[in-house]
Amino acid sequence: MALYDTKIEPGNIKRIGVMTSGGDAPGMNTALRAVVRAGLHYGYQMFGIKKGYEGLLAGEIYEMDRHDVSFIMNRGGTILQTARCKEFETPEGVQRAVTIAKVFKLDAIVVIGGDGSFKGARELAKAGIPVVGIPGTIDNDIGCTDYTIGYDTALNTVIDAIDKIKDTACSHERCSVIEVMGRDAGYIAINSAISDGAEVCILPEKSFDINEDIIKPVIACRNKGKRHFVVIIAEGVGGTMHIAEQIKNITGIVTTATILGHIQRGGSPSSRDRVTASLMGLKAIETLHAGDINKVIALRGMDYVALDIDEAINTKKHLDEDMIRANKILSL
Ligand code: F6P
Repeated sequence: MALYDTKIEPGNIKRIGVMTSGGDAPGMNTALRAVVRAGLHYGYQMFGIKKGYEGLLAGEIYEMDRHDVSFIMNRGGTILQTARCKEFETPEGVQRAVTIAKVFKLDAIVVIGGDGSFKGARELAKAGIPVVGIPGTIDNDIGCTDYTIGYDTALNTVIDAIDKIKDTACSHERCSVIEVMGRDAGYIAINSAISDGAEVCILPEKSFDINEDIIKPVIACRNKGKRHFVVIIAEGVGGTMHIAEQIKNITGIVTTATILGHIQRGGSPSSRDRVTASLMGLKAIETLHAGDINKVIALRGMDYVALDIDEAINTKKHLDEDMIRANKILSL
């Protein structure tokens, strides 16, 4: 038996809720604007749900018109705010959320967020509330889609920061150990490493040996005449300060550690994020308008497609080994 319905009589949807959930990402506001404007265009009543599933449980639900989403497409963060909600992870929490959705007569909910948010949406789908997911996370770690809203902006923020750190590292002939975001995924790490010519890049997907994978390449670079070094560590690897200490103690090179942190999640979305968020938002509404429910919008090549939510969640993404190989060849 199917986990949930995939079709609905289009006329049965009149009121659509939209939320942002999980870690915020630049472009979430742009996606919200697109969802609200497209929904109104097709004649739906649109409702903003504040603070993700937490706000749904609290009934923080407000009708939105086109002016409520004016002047937000260029703003970082999310005007709906966001949260990670423990209660919603329980069957009782889901049941209560379903009841609240019914109290507010929401016929469908659009969820802008990452993997965890889609798992929550799938629970709503199973309980009979139609959903559509839009991938928004700076990590670009959602398997079913080539791209997630926020990734390009975050990457450019990281590159800008590393460029600046590199200026001073060059001047002082230092080694800079820089931690970038990515709890489980190394996309920001490997792409910023290639973009900035980092000598070393350590990813959460791969185990590493401090001597083989960090100390030896740094020494090899020094022997080739390099006098400054960038070592990128993805957040999920952990131990950034300790790694910097080890480099200093073993090689004798003055080594500094910088944890870029939440600066990576803020800022005005790039053109790529604005365009992607706009087209994904429109696609989400047009999917519901066609009577297709319980989907995730994905970018596949040049095409925006609506995939079954269960299939979308179960599709895994793997780091491209060629990227890792390319960085090793080009930086050493
Ligand atoms: O948004 C994704 C992400 O940035 C991860 O890379 C990171 O591990 C996590 O969020 C941190 O989120 P928070 O600090 O909000 O718990």
